[in-house]
Amino acid sequence: MSSPARRRILLSVTGYDPKLWKELLSAEHDVVTQPDGEAIDYAVVWKHPHGALDGLTGLKAIFSLGAGVDHILADPGLPDVPIARIVADNLTQHMVEYMTWRVLDHHRNGMTYRAHQAQKTWHELSQPASNDVSVGIMGLGQLGRACASALLALGFKVNGWTRTARPMEGVTTFHGENGLRDFLAATDILVVLLPHTPATEGIIDHALLRGLRRENRLGGAILINGGRGKLQKETDILEALDDGTLKEASLDVFQQEPLPQQSPLWTHPRVFVTPHAAATSDPVHLAPLMLEQIARHQRGEALQNVVDRAEGY
Ligand code: NDP
Ligand code: OXD
Repeated sequence: MSSPARRRILLSVTGYDPKLWKELLSAEHDVVTQPDGEAIDYAVVWKHPHGALDGLTGLKAIFSLGAGVDHILADPGLPDVPIARIVADNLTQHMVEYMTWRVLDHHRNGMTYRAHQAQKTWHELSQPASNDVSVGIMGLGQLGRACASALLALGFKVNGWTRTARPMEGVTTFHGENGLRDFLAATDILVVLLPHTPATEGIIDHALLRGLRRENRLGGAILINGGRGKLQKETDILEALDDGTLKEASLDVFQQEPLPQQSPLWTHPRVFVTPHAAATSDPVHLAPLMLEQIARHQRGEALQNVVDRAEGY
C-alpha cells in the first residue's frame, strides 16, 4: 500500500512540552505548533488556547491527546468537525495499574500501617478478604470496564454505574439517576472514572458520598477519583472525611490543577494525592495510533473513537 500524502497538522498543547509528539507525528506529516496562515488539515490538541482553531477552514478532524475531551469541548468557538479521543491498550493498562494499586492499598490498610510504621507501632489490623468488599465503578467505559475485570480477578465484588444500561459479566450494573442510590448503597470503595460533562460536573458531593455503605468490613467508605477534578466538590470531600462519611480518599485529579499549595488535601492524613498521573498519554505508544487514524481518514474510512458532542464524551 502506498504511504499516505503528507498533511499539515496543528499541534496545540498547553501544560507540558509536546516535543516528542511533534517529532513522532513529523515522521509522516508537517507539524506546526502555531497557526501560520497556511491550510491545516488536522489538529492534535491538549488544553489548546481557546480560539486557536478559529478560522481553520480546511480542518478535517480534531484529535485529543488524551481519553478525555472536556478540554476540547470547553472552547466555545470549536469548528464543527469530528473529534476523536484516545482509546489505547497502553493508557488503559496504566489506569488499571493505578486503580488496582489504590483499591488494594485502601483494602490492605496502607494508610494506617504507614502511620503505625512512623510511630514504630506493631499492631495487626483486622483484614477482610477481597470478596467481602464491593468496589463500585462510576463510568463503566473503556477504562472502567478494564478496571472492573482486574478487580474481579482479585476477588472483589464489583458494581458499575453508567448513563445507559451496560451489562457486564460478573458485575452488578446500575444506570441513570434511578440506579444511583442502589449502586451507592451496595458500594464500599467508590472508583470514579466518569468524563467531565455538564451532567457529571460536581457529582461527587457530600450527598452522594453519604449514600455509600459505611457499615462495612473496611470500617468506612472510600473514594478514589481518577476521572476528572471537576466531578468533585473538594470542600464536601473534606467535610465527609472529617464527619465520618468517608474513611479515606485517593485523588488523582482536582478542581484546580496543579492542586494549589494552600489546599488542605495536600496534608490531610487520610488523603493520598497524585498529580493527574494515573494514566498519562505516552506519545511513543499513542502517536502511531493517531497516525493510523489520519491514514484511515485519508483512505476515506471512518475515524474511530469519535466523540458524541451532544453527550460531551
Ligand atoms: P468512556 O467514554 O469509554 O466511558 C465513560 C463512561 O462514563 C461510560 O460508561 C458512560 O456511560 C459513563 N457516563 C458518562 N456520562 C455519564 C452520566 N451522566 N451518568 C452516568 N454515567 C455516565 O471513557 P473512558 O473510560 O475512556 O475514560 C473515562 C474518563 O477518564 C475520561 O473522560 C477522562 O476524564 C478520565 N481519564 C483520566 C486519566 C487520568 O490520568 N486521571 C487518564 C485518562 C482518562 P455509558 O456507558 O452509558 O455511555
Ligand atoms: C486523559 C488524561 O484524559 O490524561 O487521557 O486525563
